[in-house]
Amino acid sequence: MKHLPIVTVLTLLCQSGSGVAATDHDPNLGRNLAAICVNCHNTNPHDTSAIEPLVGMSRAKIVKKMHAFRSDEKAATLMNQLAKGFNDAQIEIIATYLASQGRAK
Ligand code: HEC
Repeated sequence: MKHLPIVTVLTLLCQSGSGVAATDHDPNLGRNLAAICVNCHNTNPHDTSAIEPLVGMSRAKIVKKMHAFRSDEKAATLMNQLAKGFNDAQIEIIATYLASQGRAK
């Protein structure tokens, strides 16, 4: 393999790192925000032995449930508090990302 000059490597690293800030233009924002959710939620849509999997749920269903948790319309042990940490735009981004990871049901 041909070695790249160190300056080129550093420049590439700096460029790829410039998108880390959570802006609307960050292509990884959905994945990064959804990483919070999959700490608890199962990522296998067919395995319901742990906390309900979100992968495989439709975008609209995730958004609706998050809004219900956030407004305390739906009682829960911890999702009420957690949902309050996200604004509408973030919930949309998370739901869109999660729904894109599996077939919606
Ligand atoms: C600390 C663990 C934890 C994290 C992190 C977490 N959840 Fe949950 N989630 C739960 C639990 C537990 C429930 C069951 C309801 C309850 O008791 O809060 C749940 C329920 C849900 C439900 C309802 C599932 C159903 O079928 O009714 C949705 C939707 C949901 N979470 C979305 C999310 C999203 C989106 C995120 C990331 C922003 C997230 N959760 C992060 C633990 C977690």
